[in-house]
Amino acid sequence: MRPYQRQIAERIAEIVDPGDLDLSSLFSVPPDSTLGDLAFPCFQLARTLKEAPPRIAERIAEAAWEFPWLAEVVAAGPYVNFLYDSGAFSRDVLARVIAAGEAFGTSDVGEGKTVVVEFSSPNIAKHLAVHHLRSTMLGQVMVNLLRASGYSVVALNHLGDWGTNFGKLLAAWERYGEEEGLEDSLIETSDDPVALFNKLYVRINSEIETDPQLEETARAWFRKLEAGDPVARERWQRIRDVSWARFEKVYKRLGVSFDEVIGESFYEDKMPEIIDELAKTGLLVESEGAEVVALEEEIPPLLIRKRDGSTLYGTRDLASAEYRWGRWQFSRALYVVDAGQGLHFRQVFGVLRRLGRSYADRLEHTEFGIMRMNVDGQWIKGRTRKGQIVLLEDVLDDATALAREVVLRKNPDLGDSIEEIAEAVGVGAVVFSDMKARRGRDVNFDLEKFLSFEGETGPYLQYTHVRFCGILRKSEIDSSDHGDGSLLVEAEEKALLLCLDRFDTVIARAALEAEPSILSQYLLDLAGEFNAYYAKHRIISDDGDLTRHRLSLIDALRVVLSRGLRILCLEPLERM
Ligand code: ARG
Repeated sequence: MRPYQRQIAERIAEIVDPGDLDLSSLFSVPPDSTLGDLAFPCFQLARTLKEAPPRIAERIAEAAWEFPWLAEVVAAGPYVNFLYDSGAFSRDVLARVIAAGEAFGTSDVGEGKTVVVEFSSPNIAKHLAVHHLRSTMLGQVMVNLLRASGYSVVALNHLGDWGTNFGKLLAAWERYGEEEGLEDSLIETSDDPVALFNKLYVRINSEIETDPQLEETARAWFRKLEAGDPVARERWQRIRDVSWARFEKVYKRLGVSFDEVIGESFYEDKMPEIIDELAKTGLLVESEGAEVVALEEEIPPLLIRKRDGSTLYGTRDLASAEYRWGRWQFSRALYVVDAGQGLHFRQVFGVLRRLGRSYADRLEHTEFGIMRMNVDGQWIKGRTRKGQIVLLEDVLDDATALAREVVLRKNPDLGDSIEEIAEAVGVGAVVFSDMKARRGRDVNFDLEKFLSFEGETGPYLQYTHVRFCGILRKSEIDSSDHGDGSLLVEAEEKALLLCLDRFDTVIARAALEAEPSILSQYLLDLAGEFNAYYAKHRIISDDGDLTRHRLSLIDALRVVLSRGLRILCLEPLERM
């Protein structure tokens, strides 16, 4: 049996012709449960059908509805309200959840379509910093949401491993390498070789200020690197390997992984092709010695080649879009990159459009707001008071340490498992803070708040999951003896069942809108509804029959919360 919502959507599509409109994602919950269990707003259809919403609502309500589980279909202004037959509804929903298990919520809306999700994409020779958290987690969660909606997904890291900066780094290696211990095995023995590269970079930059001549040396090194000079290549490769190894440690803690890691360097020999095309079509024009492509009035031209002939970040983005399209023929390609790069992507997409690329409209800049840190009572962007970058691994360590205290205060008897639990709660709290707000909003990083068990937090959701597990354990009733749910008639029970029924459309909508907060808010709703229920009703009581039916609801809630948490990269703990 498929979700009621989908069946209703399909029936509506028979009554009126929705064109390309996906009706299943349009439903809402009636403001008052006596009106119905599900509402269908006709506004979007009105646009497609060029007909007044109340008129469409009436047409839908008056048509024949023959589902045995449907008690009533009523038009109310621009809405159609659907009321379910309670007994049948609870039985069907629970049976569906239990049968699907952890696959519950999976749909096939994306079948046959490929989505490329580019995310994280840090620059090598630096650490992952707190500002990388958002791209990394929003991207991974988008990958999970799209997979759950049936898309085939390419999780892609567009590693920043190319550009004139690496000329500077190589020049610095030559100049101070020995002194800084790079020539001996320090890279292998140092517990933080990335910090060594960082230091080199900072050092050469400050020396360039007093000695501009050095800039030329740096440029010469980058040319060597481009030309494939063995020393330049070998050192660059070293920097890349060491940086990647460091990134991977953090990715692992966060539950992040990639199908493809394709650095900007990969496009080095793929740029000439598109530059030639730009030249041939006359789009490439000279501007102050450099070569640019002009765009619409309000958007500045995209710089393609500098005066010295070197290519740029944007040039590589053109080549990479071509490559992605050629390789994957995606139906969408997401760039999960902060809103600060909005203009850059408008320029890149604009150039591709001017080239007449049909896929240009499938490119999406999945932008997001910044993560602010609190320094002496002020919220600022990812730096300490001394201007130092806040490392992501340090943030995760702090979160884990604090989580350890918070959890032990609540439950001192966790034994050895406390270490694992503290990591899952600490990291989960940080990750959830990122998923909770709509992605366009800025987030203030407030560890104490993120770790509170009472607020709308990761630990609160994990704790709710622990509670479900606790109830099921305590009952000592095997799941094969759980009831079918037909005795669940309380209003709070109905609210929870409706919540379960919505799960797959929530996932599909979050995937479509590239908005993980839709899922986070849904899980918070589910936990909230459960807590209201739990405060009012006993799950395990003297009434054996009712107990068995309620346990089956708890089991279904556990399945959905667990799946939802995993999609959000949080671990559904059984104890904490
Ligand atoms: N490496 C870049 C940075 O750290 C982000 C790359 C974003 N992706 C892209 N296709 N331009 O700012």
